[in-house]
Amino acid sequence: MKIALTGTPGTGKTSVANVLASKYKIIALGEFKEARVQYDEERDTYIVDLDYLRKKVAELENDGTVIIEGHYSHDMPEDMIIVLRCHPDELRRRLAARNYSEYKIMENVEAEAMGLITEEALAHYSEHNVYEIDTTNKEPEEVANAVENIIRGNGEEYKNRISYMEEILKWY
Ligand SMILES: Nc1ncnc2c1ncn2[C@@H]1O[C@H](COP(=O)(O)OP(=O)(O)OP(=O)(O)O)[C@@H](O)[C@H]1O
Ligand SMILES: [Mg+2]
Repeated sequence: MKIALTGTPGTGKTSVANVLASKYKIIALGEFKEARVQYDEERDTYIVDLDYLRKKVAELENDGTVIIEGHYSHDMPEDMIIVLRCHPDELRRRLAARNYSEYKIMENVEAEAMGLITEEALAHYSEHNVYEIDTTNKEPEEVANAVENIIRGNGEEYKNRISYMEEILKWY
C-alpha cells in the first residue's frame, strides 16, 4: 500500500516520517534532487518534474506499506492520502523559526489557511481516501500515532474536514 504524507511546508511531514521510519519504508520526494528542473528565484523554491516523480512512485514495489513524504506527494499514484494540517498562527511560528522570508511565510500560511493541499488531494482522490490530521498542539510522536491508526484502518475520525478559513477574516 502506498500512502502519501503531504501538507503545507512546516506542517511536520519530515518530523513525522522520521518517527515512523523504524516501522515503515519512507520515500522522501525532496530527495529526488534530479527532479528539480528549475529554480524559481522570486518564490525561492524549485520547480520539479512531477511526471518524473510519478514514474518513480509508480515503479516502487508495492509489498508492505510505503509512506511517500513531500508536499506534492498527493499528486502521485497512491492508495491513501494523509494531509497534515496546522493552525496558521502556529505555522507562522514554525516557518519563522526556519528563517523563511516574510513572503515565503505568508505564501505558505495563506495556502494552509485556505486548505489548498486538501483541496488538491480531493481533486485527485475520493474523499474516503483522504485523511487530515491537525498537528497544531501535537508532538510529532502523537501525529505519527494518528498516522498509524489510519494505516491500520482505525482512522474514521480523520475523515472530518479541517478548516482554518475563519482565520483569514481576522487578517483584515
Ligand atoms: N508537531 C509539531 N509541533 C511543533 N513543531 C513541529 C511539529 N512538527 C514539526 N515541527 C517543527 O516545524 C518545523 C517544520 O517541520 P518539518 O520539517 O517536519 O516540516 P515539513 O512538513 O517536512 O516541511 P517541508 O515541506 O518544508 O519539508 C521544524 O522546525 C519542526 O521542528
Ligand atoms: Mg520536509
